[in-house]
Amino acid sequence: MAKKTRIGLGLAALGRPDYINIRSNPDIDKSVNAFKKNTFEVLDKAYTMGIRDFDVAPSYGLGEQFLLEWNKSRAYSDVNLSTKFGYTYVANWEIGFKGKHEIKEHSLSKLNEQWEVSKAFLPNLSIYQIHSATLETGVLTNNKVLSRLHELKQTHGLKIGLSSSGTAQNAIISEALKVTFDGVELFDSFQVTFNIFEQSTFSILKQLLVNNKTVIIKEALANGRVFKHSNFENYQEAYHLLESLQTKYNIGTDAIAIRYIIDILAPTIVLSGASNTAHLKQNLKALDFELTDSELEKLKSLAILPKHYWAERQSLEWN
Ligand SMILES: NC(=O)c1ccc[n+]([C@@H]2O[C@H](COP(=O)([O-])OP(=O)(O)OC[C@H]3O[C@@H](n4cnc5c(N)ncnc54)[C@H](OP(=O)(O)O)[C@@H]3O)[C@@H](O)[C@H]2O)c1
Repeated sequence: MAKKTRIGLGLAALGRPDYINIRSNPDIDKSVNAFKKNTFEVLDKAYTMGIRDFDVAPSYGLGEQFLLEWNKSRAYSDVNLSTKFGYTYVANWEIGFKGKHEIKEHSLSKLNEQWEVSKAFLPNLSIYQIHSATLETGVLTNNKVLSRLHELKQTHGLKIGLSSSGTAQNAIISEALKVTFDGVELFDSFQVTFNIFEQSTFSILKQLLVNNKTVIIKEALANGRVFKHSNFENYQEAYHLLESLQTKYNIGTDAIAIRYIIDILAPTIVLSGASNTAHLKQNLKALDFELTDSELEKLKSLAILPKHYWAERQSLEWN
């Protein structure tokens, strides 16, 4: 029988003032103090509501620092933390920062540098991931990096994972599965974008689950694009279907979109990207109901071509 999907919390929108998400309230207080206070509130509410899986990365602004402090001060022994290496945050909390907010580098020196900070999550750190692994950076054939990850896995009992984005997600996962040490696959965990509009990894994710891999879904709400928005003319039909389901179940669009992923895929974890407690509570309503087979079929038909999905994702502005 498939294991029950858990909802986890990602800190991408909590640890830095600007992100590519389509914010429902753009007029929030963007000071460090306000963000820290809010992050602690969201983390505490998440724990109270049963969330035990928390995901972060060095490039999420002060996200790692906030989670480290929270983890130390609350001292829970039953939380599973995951972080990543490979991107450095360079926007320095400058509101409206122009240019790239994060710089990618999949080298051994970056891994060692970022691990020095992230190891403070131990012993609650359960998954250590390559942030946005790609074929282009060569990280999946870089023996120095892979050997170091293997060493960390052996020494600390971690699961080694990767996150993926873009049109090549299937190829990245397939390539990662070829990496073995002493006949054992290095990668145990895959953090992948899957949602009503981008479903191209469905088969490979099902296979990963059959093979007892951890499958973590990110961008379940397509960075906010599942919510009715006049900027996205192309989704009007989807919005219409989502609205009818919202009315039927008396629940938000977010809960419908997350529930779809749970019912169709049954992944290990779906990450909530909520940036406040109200949104978190609404996201968690996905655990309270089930969609019918015919509704699942209709939602399945909303998938668009990956090249269109990722071109649109690329065009989202930091705000
Ligand atoms: N490459 C990678 O490794 C990578 C990339 C992306 C994400 N991730 C991980 O996945 C996590 C989740 O992804 P995500 O945050 O990018 O995407 P997401 O869950 O698809 O989208 C979050 C968006 O939905 C909005 N939202 C959520 N609940 C809402 C509600 N009830 N009403 C209105 N709006 C609502 C949020 O708005 P508000 O901001 O107003 O709450 C935000 O704009 C991240 O935190 C991170 O841990 C990893």
